Amino acid sequence: MKNVLVSLPKPFMVLAPMDDVTETVFRRVVQACAPADLMFTEFVNVDALCSAGRTAALRRLRFETAENPLIAQIWGKTPENFYTVANELVDMGFDGVDINMGCPDKSVVKNAAGGGMIKYPDQALEVIRATRDGLAGRLPLSVKTRIGFNEYDEAWLGAILNEKLNMLSIHLRTVKEMSKVPAHWEWAGRVRTLRDELSPDTLLVGNGDVTSYAEAQKLALKYGYDGVMIGRGVFYDPFVFAKESPWPTLSARDKVLIFKKHVRLFRETWQDGERPIAPLNKFCKIYVNDFPSAKDYRVRLMSCGSAMELETTIDQILKELA
Ligand SMILES: Cc1cc2nc3c(=O)[nH]c(=O)nc-3n(C[C@H](O)[C@H](O)[C@H](O)COP(=O)(O)O)c2cc1C
Repeated sequence: MKNVLVSLPKPFMVLAPMDDVTETVFRRVVQACAPADLMFTEFVNVDALCSAGRTAALRRLRFETAENPLIAQIWGKTPENFYTVANELVDMGFDGVDINMGCPDKSVVKNAAGGGMIKYPDQALEVIRATRDGLAGRLPLSVKTRIGFNEYDEAWLGAILNEKLNMLSIHLRTVKEMSKVPAHWEWAGRVRTLRDELSPDTLLVGNGDVTSYAEAQKLALKYGYDGVMIGRGVFYDPFVFAKESPWPTLSARDKVLIFKKHVRLFRETWQDGERPIAPLNKFCKIYVNDFPSAKDYRVRLMSCGSAMELETTIDQILKELA
């Protein structure tokens, strides 16, 4: 098996999968700022990939080699579709396949998918096995889940650890908690002990509220984790994976230049409305932030109707900032 996970540094830093955020363009921007050791795609629905919606779903899997190592994250309901998609992903150049078993979105959970799988462990195990069969030992298999549905659930964690996954990423909250309470790092040691008992070869990645490289290192060391995953931390610092982030000392111009790069890549990558430009507003908030007049600039930028207009407005702002 081609398993890049075993050669990652310890502890390794992971960019979390984030729907509508961690697509190919943003991943390349993050890699250029301060690279993570491992990245994930946004979650992609296997049932959509095996239906008429395939073309749109495939866009979520687009990537370039600069983004490796990269794991494709899948979710869905039907074991046969997990099998089919896993088999296809092997030839697409991914470094691993991850199953989302933690998404708390109501529409996902009510279909017993994502975080809803925690309530139906037998179904979850069937999905893990179908995916493993599809991969046929050619790529590592991992799961990203939460500590439980309503509360910490050792039976759930034990059941998936007994599947001897190559990696388990654990978001230290319950599904019910969504992201409304601080992550329960106090449970991290217990999950680690369980991993050591049941599946010592499964790499364990902790996730929840980490906002800097130093904090990630500290937590990994404290709880003996193999890796730490950072999601929203990248919204406050695109250099979050740097040992010492330059972000607080960057000039307004330098920050806007990173946004320009993002918009340029977006325009080159997503042609003919393949992706709506609305998510660019989310990114605007990341880069055009923490400097005087940033809010006024954002108002101008967010009123743009196309990526082209956005780039022209950014150029005007750069002139004003010169
Ligand atoms: C906008 C957004 C989209 C997300 N999409 C996904 C996803 O597609 N797959 C997934 O496993 N988790 C997803 N998550 C959850 C994150 O991967 C992560 O587990 C969560 O944000 C907690 O980590 P953090 O505190 O470092 O952000 C998403 C989170 C956010 C904020």
